[in-house]
Amino acid sequence: MADKMACVAQIGPSLLASDMSDLANESRRVLKAGADNLHLDVMDGHFVPNLTFGAPIIASLRKNLADESVVFDVHLMVTHPQQWVDDMAAAGANIFTFHVEVNDGGDHTELINKIKEKGMKVGLAIKPGTPVDSVYPYLSLLDLVLVMTVEPGFGGQKFQPAMMDKVKTLRKKCGNSVNIQVDGGLSMDTIDTAAEAGANMIVAGSSVFKARDPAVMINSLKERVEVAAAKW
Ligand code: DX5
Ligand code: ZN
Repeated sequence: MADKMACVAQIGPSLLASDMSDLANESRRVLKAGADNLHLDVMDGHFVPNLTFGAPIIASLRKNLADESVVFDVHLMVTHPQQWVDDMAAAGANIFTFHVEVNDGGDHTELINKIKEKGMKVGLAIKPGTPVDSVYPYLSLLDLVLVMTVEPGFGGQKFQPAMMDKVKTLRKKCGNSVNIQVDGGLSMDTIDTAAEAGANMIVAGSSVFKARDPAVMINSLKERVEVAAAKW
């Protein structure tokens, strides 16, 4: 998976926008439509004012999708991500992304190393109000930086174009050594803005799951990233 992640265009549908009573079939629907990974939003009702699901549901989904070699991209919007490393690894998570704002912005090196020891890729996420330089100390250790383009907690919000300065700064600083993911409000109306700024991993909830034809939507989003990436 390491190579596949190396800054190529990837579209990850967020299951938050799916029919969550039918996660396995909803996952199969978007995988068949060409999704590169599944984005799983874990919320604890504390770091963000909403609750979703945790490791038991992720483990069940992994079991149910046993015949698929799908990448589980787990975005932890939780106050204590360190509590969930073992459980997420056991549940079949491939990417473990946590927020730089947790633990009072203390040093995250130990946690990053623990995630890697468990065989997962590591992502560090920043909320809209958090400056981009907060991730600088960790860049050489990370597989991806997630620049939130909405306040974390809910799907279906409006994309914040002001976040593109962070994406541009990161792409300029890192070249192709780190994946840059954007999450929140990505659709055909906003994809060019994000891709031209330098984002290569696109989380898309509502736009994919509510699309008349998810395959057309995924292909179109991906094509826009590939066109833009040629100019980074
Ligand atoms: C928000 C989540 C997102 C969300 C995106 O806290 O991290 O992944 O599901 O949903 P859309 O694409 O609908 O904005
Ligand atoms: Zn997310």
